[in-house]
Amino acid sequence: MNNTLTVIEKRSSCRNFSNRSISDADLFSISKAALQAPSAFNQQKWHISIVKNKALLDEIEAEGLMVLSSLSDKSTFERIKKRGGKMFYNAEVVSFISIMESTDSHYKRYSLIDLGIIAQNISLACTSLGIDNCHCGMITFCFSTDKKEEFKKKLKIPNGYECSYGVLLGYGVTATTPHNIDESKVSFID
Ligand SMILES: Cc1cc2nc3c(=O)[nH]c(=O)nc-3n(C[C@H](O)[C@H](O)[C@H](O)COP(=O)(O)O)c2cc1C
Repeated sequence: MNNTLTVIEKRSSCRNFSNRSISDADLFSISKAALQAPSAFNQQKWHISIVKNKALLDEIEAEGLMVLSSLSDKSTFERIKKRGGKMFYNAEVVSFISIMESTDSHYKRYSLIDLGIIAQNISLACTSLGIDNCHCGMITFCFSTDKKEEFKKKLKIPNGYECSYGVLLGYGVTATTPHNIDESKVSFID
């Protein structure tokens, strides 16, 4: 198996990060991998905020947790509570991924795909460097209150862009195990 396939096979979600920090050199490599993602029409209508500031991460996370706890459907909040009550799981670094907002349905569909590809570039770059990580769709809850504009400013998110996804980065306290794959979900047609 080649290196790329080994990295894809090894990746799995980490939800229990230690306080070991990530080097700036690694963060720079990860940011480059993110920017090397393909995008529809090569539009690159994205912005990535790589945040190490613990106080800021705590503040953003607290807002998301507050929103989650106030939802009538408590299932996600209860799941988070079972995982230690943290949305970012003590991640040392969070990469917030923002995309340009648009009402155009065609653009919207592609921009969500762009977002997923960037996130997976970040995730696989991390795994290749031995850095644990976890996709974080829940991050959108952090930007759903009147604190949104303040957070956007602090994260240097350009006007017209919205934070729509995140990847949590760090070194896990315990090793993670890749999920079982279901080969019945693929059909080979000759
Ligand atoms: C679109 C998307 C959103 C996700 N959001 C979260 C999240 O908010 N919190 C979380 O702990 N995991 C999140 N995950 C991680 C999934 O739960 C995880 O990928 C899945 O359980 C499979 O496990 P694995 O990543 O270890 O293979 C998300 C994954 C994807 C693809």
